[in-house]
Amino acid sequence: MIIVIDGPAGAGKSTTAKAVAKKLGIQYLDSGALYRALTVIYLESGKDADSFFKKLKDKDITFKYTDEQFRVWLNEKDITDKLRSSNVADEVSTVASLLKSRERVNELMREAVEHDTYIAEGRDLGTAVFPDADLKFFMKADVNERARRRYEELLEAGEETSLKKVKQNILERDYKDSQRKTDPLKQADDAIIVDTTNLDFEQQVAQICSDITD
Ligand code: CDP
Repeated sequence: MIIVIDGPAGAGKSTTAKAVAKKLGIQYLDSGALYRALTVIYLESGKDADSFFKKLKDKDITFKYTDEQFRVWLNEKDITDKLRSSNVADEVSTVASLLKSRERVNELMREAVEHDTYIAEGRDLGTAVFPDADLKFFMKADVNERARRRYEELLEAGEETSLKKVKQNILERDYKDSQRKTDPLKQADDAIIVDTTNLDFEQQVAQICSDITD
């Protein structure tokens, strides 16, 4: 069984999907973290596409949801702590727009869901990656609220940034993600829309869980 949550940056997909996974005892998959992992490889390649594609073929990418954290390893080296950095956030939408990146991430995800029940979150899961998902949600929220949430999250992680910079990054990524030719950020026709701007988090999780178990 596969349940997907799509939506723009900072809409609350990760926190919600993790809470639902915990409540229902299912696996959680963060597709954005996989694009971020590819971005770490891209940065290691000096932002050179050819060298990036070559490294992409050679690297063993593994991931696991453990202790409420989605962890990613490159050739057995844990790179989870790098994934949320500004360096990565600034380049991830560029990397995600490359067809070879999308093919690699989709392959990793489809392989994983064969073996268990998952709730997965991303941008194109309900439209492109899992068009036959058992249930689809599309999560959105006002951009100022999304920027505020992400800013607080980064501060907590000890990153020095400003609300203005975070909002700028979110707007840029939303634009690139929805404009790219291959599998853009898009709401599936059969997705349930959840606007989290003013939602009580517990109620929202309970509602999604009851939609799934109904
Ligand atoms: O957590 P946040 O919503 O800010 O971003 P994320 O889920 O970590 O995703 C980071 C980036 O990966 C997005 O801005 C997209 O460029 C890309 N992405 C994508 O293209 N397709 C997906 N299914 C998931 C993420």
